[in-house]
Amino acid sequence: MVKILVVYDSKTGHTESMAAAVAEGVEAVEGMQVAVKRVDETSLADLQAADGIILGSPTYYGEMSAKLKGLIDRSVDIHGKLEGKVGAAFTSSGGVACGAETTLLSIIQTMLIHGMIVQGRSSTAHYGAAAVNAPNEEERQSCRDIGERTAKLVARIHG
Ligand SMILES: Cc1cc2nc3c(=O)[nH]c(=O)nc-3n(C[C@H](O)[C@H](O)[C@H](O)COP(=O)(O)O)c2cc1C
Repeated sequence: MVKILVVYDSKTGHTESMAAAVAEGVEAVEGMQVAVKRVDETSLADLQAADGIILGSPTYYGEMSAKLKGLIDRSVDIHGKLEGKVGAAFTSSGGVACGAETTLLSIIQTMLIHGMIVQGRSSTAHYGAAAVNAPNEEERQSCRDIGERTAKLVARIHG
């Protein structure tokens, strides 16, 4: 069984609802085991056990939240052990062009530093899934797509 972990921070529930849609997309791919966890319930062992890690955060001043950054900073203790895992990102912001893309990139950047594999998306929302406040149906579909794409890439890597 291939394991995908979806980790999110969320204060008012918007990013949480995106996490649920991301998980739906993962589950659409056969042979996937998905776990969805709040960032404060996520351990370094959880990160290490996953084959794919999808991180979501509200946009806070154009970056990921301090809670998610805290988990990433703690992950220095397992630096090198996430090498080759597949990563993806999602965010909810309060407005359009108000920092969502820089937030996605702030997450993806840390994945690259960990040696993880991040697939872009040529069609739309190139850096990951983004929603303005609570995700509408189109944004939920973008989340599902991110989950499905990540799961398919992990499946390809694992043969
Ligand atoms: C500390 C803080 C900083 C924020 N910074 C931004 C920002 O830079 N750009 C933006 O569009 N929204 C910003 N917001 C709004 C949140 O990104 C937005 O409300 C989001 O939907 C919250 O997600 P959540 O429901 O998962 O907590 C900020 C909110 C807070 C509390």
